[in-house]
Amino acid sequence: MDFKLNTIHSQQGRIAIVTGANNGIGFQTTKAMAAYGFKVVMACRNMAKAEKAKTEILTKVATADLDILQLDLSNLESVRNFAKKFKERYTKLDVLVNNAGILVYSGKKNEVGVELQFATNHLGHFLLTNLLFELMPDNHASRIVALSSLAHKGAKIHFDDLNCEKTDDSDAAYGQSKLANLMFADELDRRLKKSGKKIIALAVHPGGSDSGLFDEMSRIKYYTFKILSPFILNSPANAAKPSLFAVLSKEVRGGEYIGPQGFNEFKGKIGFAKRSDYSKKQDVATKLWKLSEGITGQSFL
Ligand SMILES: NC(=O)c1ccc[n+]([C@@H]2O[C@H](COP(=O)([O-])OP(=O)(O)OC[C@H]3O[C@@H](n4cnc5c(N)ncnc54)[C@H](OP(=O)(O)O)[C@@H]3O)[C@@H](O)[C@H]2O)c1
Repeated sequence: MDFKLNTIHSQQGRIAIVTGANNGIGFQTTKAMAAYGFKVVMACRNMAKAEKAKTEILTKVATADLDILQLDLSNLESVRNFAKKFKERYTKLDVLVNNAGILVYSGKKNEVGVELQFATNHLGHFLLTNLLFELMPDNHASRIVALSSLAHKGAKIHFDDLNCEKTDDSDAAYGQSKLANLMFADELDRRLKKSGKKIIALAVHPGGSDSGLFDEMSRIKYYTFKILSPFILNSPANAAKPSLFAVLSKEVRGGEYIGPQGFNEFKGKIGFAKRSDYSKKQDVATKLWKLSEGITGQSFL
């Protein structure tokens, strides 16, 4: 894949949403998209952090056209409110980057009893996409991008234990949520194609990158991570490149999974990412879709 960010033409007149735009990969994605001319709506749960991030982007990209709308993805009502407000302000949406995420399992649940990683990383984005997708122009430049992870490998959807309460594996819930991101993108793309739409849904992973994601880890893991990360991981700016590729490249096709190609897929040139066999199971993706419709109370496509 030959992706040169400096050959992208202006995206002026196009509107995008980036969830979790105030930090890490979402921040870098927003900054770059704004530099390409997108109007970017920063969908953030913490308005103070969002304002700070907006100011920081404006100091680097003076022409950045940014808006902030409050969104807590873990809360279905907040997602509905966000979609309502977005529709009051805008009549179309060209690109949706479902970027926000949390890593550490707390065992806490949202208002409908769903564990926060699955609720935030998957269900919130599932509902958001569902509520906004009708605003997207029907062409190949319209993109819905999911941020998955290397952590999807080895994970499964625990249909009989969605909150991962019966497993000893503390990483199971994150892996499950990131697997759900990938399988949702696949299933969405299949359904878009089936209904004759040209909108593209696809997934990316950023490799590994030192971001706010690891702040809540146990201190031992956290400091080990901090020592190793400069040597083996991506910078946040490089970690945003798979997302930018998915948003901007004319080469991508729906249903693809994009990520870095270097050692362990942690960083490096962008190309097709490796996925687990489990993630390819269409019957599981369909079951996950139905489950997500059931919990959110919203069906589409
Ligand atoms: N960094 C990596 O190595 C890595 C690897 C694989 C995949 N990823 C994925 O990349 C994405 C971005 O992560 P990152 O590394 O940039 O982490 P980050 O720096 O922690 O950023 C995560 C963003 O998500 C937001 N967020 C968290 N919970 C939210 C909620 N309930 N509602 C709305 N926004 C919420 C955070 O907002 P606050 O600032 O308010 O917390 C923050 O803006 C995630 O989906 C993550 O799973 C990252």
